[in-house]
Amino acid sequence: MGSSVSDMVGNTWAILVAAGAGERLGSDRPKAFAALRGRPLLAESLERLEASGWIDAIVVVAPPEWEEPAILLAEELVATKVTSVATGGATRAESVRAGLAEVSPDALVVVVHDAARPLLTDAVIGRVLEPLGEGLDGAVPGLPLADTVKRVRGHEVVETLDRAELVAVQTPQAFRADVLRAAFAGDLEGATDCASLVERRGGRVRIVEGDPQLLKVTTRQDLERVERLLGG
Ligand code: CTP
Ligand code: MG
Repeated sequence: MGSSVSDMVGNTWAILVAAGAGERLGSDRPKAFAALRGRPLLAESLERLEASGWIDAIVVVAPPEWEEPAILLAEELVATKVTSVATGGATRAESVRAGLAEVSPDALVVVVHDAARPLLTDAVIGRVLEPLGEGLDGAVPGLPLADTVKRVRGHEVVETLDRAELVAVQTPQAFRADVLRAAFAGDLEGATDCASLVERRGGRVRIVEGDPQLLKVTTRQDLERVERLLGG
């Protein structure tokens, strides 16, 4: 592994996970294909990864039966960095694993991003890549919490956590490719993000500044919020 960001040029792959059902959105199709300003939600993040100077190749992970629409969308957007469309699994982690199988053995860095977070910027991609040049195993965007957070059991408060020690984590998450592969070779149980699997194996993961606009579309209201942020 090189020791500067320039070594990563030409070898940075993105996995765009879009294989979720979108149950909470309640659309008639998977969330990644729900309409955002007349286009599938997936189009927004795919277009932004394609345009990013940091990203050299893209693997899209689509829901079963939605591989073909994903390929057609990539063609429509002239997203020439898309090297393949993989079929997703039952959980997010299984979908990432399916995407990772399509990443070139020559890749040095893998950036994993949720299609459910359409408002990706080049600035945040740059921020998660920087620590890798300093020898970190991974980096994730995080935001401070506005609310007080309590640990509960049922309806009973167990304790109030120290907010200063907590961050809300987003994607894109960037990793050394070898570290991510090792993390996904093991047990995926309970992994809600990629970094947690890397942490479990003792990998060093840094938090960088997140972006409030990088919100995750979960409900219909989130989709409307993103539409407003896009100015329509
Ligand atoms: N994801 C995936 N494969 C899965 C589950 C999730 O690729 N089996 C992806 C989603 O497409 C999304 C991201 O992981 O881009 C975050 O997941 P989430 O927001 O929970 O999306 P869904 O699982 O689709 O939504 P829901 O939980 O409401 O069904
Ligand atoms: Mg989900």
